[in-house]
Amino acid sequence: MAPLRVLVLSGPNLQLLGTREPEIYGTETLDEIHARLVARGEELRVTVDARQTNHEGGLCDWIAEARGTFDGLLLNAAAYTHTSLAIFDALKAVGLPCVEVHLSNPEAREAYRQASRVAPACIGKVAGFGGESYLLALEALAHYLRRAP
Ligand code: DQA
Repeated sequence: MAPLRVLVLSGPNLQLLGTREPEIYGTETLDEIHARLVARGEELRVTVDARQTNHEGGLCDWIAEARGTFDGLLLNAAAYTHTSLAIFDALKAVGLPCVEVHLSNPEAREAYRQASRVAPACIGKVAGFGGESYLLALEALAHYLRRAP
């Protein structure tokens, strides 16, 4: 069984995890989540490359470059989830399977978080489980990719 290659992208302000509104996002840092993803990936035979940027265009660049290098994506676009037609277009353009990820459950929060611009370009979503959302999404994506014809 060949290892799968998964690109994990996190958007604006997620570099502040650990101290950012811990009552909503918990106390785990993004580096800690990334380390857990790499370790879980080793168990699942998935090579994980995890990155963060505050810039919408940077996310678009990384998504565009993923074709041919990665089998699928996990994406927490943070606030861009709710606004970014550019990220939606990038996901549609590359056509790689993508799982939308959130630490909180945006649909249970403010009205302006309840719509996702990226969801229609994703195969599914994991939200509301803190850092564990990323781990659950990695398992779901690996399962999806290994079942795909
Ligand atoms: C978030 C939810 C978004 O609404 C918010 O803008 C974030 C984080 C989450 O992981 O819960 O920055 O994507």
